[in-house]
Amino acid sequence: MPSLAGGNPPFTCPQCRALLSQALAGERCACGFLIRNLDGVFDLLSEADAAASEPFLEIYERVRRDEQWGGDDLDLPFRAKRHRDIWNIRKRSFRALESAIGTVPRGIAVDVGAGNCWLTRYLDRWGFNAIALDINNSSADGLQAGQRYLDQGATFHRIRGSMEHAPLDANCVQLLVANASFHYSSDFESLLSEFRRVLVNGGVVALLDTPFYENAIDGERMVAQRVKEFSEKYSIDEAMSRRSSYLTFRRLRELAASVDMSLTIQHVWPGWPRRYREIRGRLAGQQIAQFPLALLRKAGLQ
Ligand SMILES: C[S@@+](CC[C@H](N)C(=O)[O-])C[C@H]1O[C@@H](n2cnc3c(N)ncnc32)[C@H](O)[C@@H]1O
Repeated sequence: MPSLAGGNPPFTCPQCRALLSQALAGERCACGFLIRNLDGVFDLLSEADAAASEPFLEIYERVRRDEQWGGDDLDLPFRAKRHRDIWNIRKRSFRALESAIGTVPRGIAVDVGAGNCWLTRYLDRWGFNAIALDINNSSADGLQAGQRYLDQGATFHRIRGSMEHAPLDANCVQLLVANASFHYSSDFESLLSEFRRVLVNGGVVALLDTPFYENAIDGERMVAQRVKEFSEKYSIDEAMSRRSSYLTFRRLRELAASVDMSLTIQHVWPGWPRRYREIRGRLAGQQIAQFPLALLRKAGLQ
């Protein structure tokens, strides 16, 4: 079994938070937690978090399969086979991220809610010690799908784990990217505190591809539409449909202040088709989502 410690990110036990950096797959932490290697993905998800995420994953995977995400469509974000309108926007936020993090010192970078790891391979390419973290280990659209990038020569760790209880030591991460994943949390303030905990002083959280609105009423309308659509199409109950939410610009400013992090928001050009929809929405008094790049920095010198 390979060592969990290749490149030595200070992984911690999800059950007792002890450092695992020298542990091997198949070994147990002193608290009894078994470190499993799931075909190259190290399983650092606590039993409680695994049980809590199971109903969500069952539905998430059903919808993603039906909408045909992932699978043979992994050359992302530039050569997508499907959902090209979405990837046209996402490749712009990707470029904004690439340029914004140019000056972030190299070190550990975590792709939180990494899905099939398409961004993790770029974090590696950009010189970071990259980690993909997700609760989803599916081979179509989760961490197992990331094997394709490893086979192509990328180097990164894949960890099955929860972003709310990141299995990493405090003060070790230079960059934490939540790409289309932050809004899956039910408690933004605790999540941001957790991100801050693992960051080094001066470290950066980058949020992208989370829907933002000026006014909560527009975000609520978007969620209500999804509740209706998922109920009609998949018989999914309301609470589950609400697992993916949105932010307002004001809410994020409040959140950043509450965890004592500075905040910069960069607006990303959405392309003419979406811009046209934005203008039409504004004229009708209903704003559609924006997808800016939000950068939060933990204060202090490195
Ligand atoms: C829309 S996908 C985004 C995947 C990828 N980052 C991308 O940009 O294509 C959201 C991802 O967040 C993951 N996720 C949701 N809740 C999570 C949690 N509590 N901890 C870790 N990952 C989570 C899901 O499993 C899923 O892979």
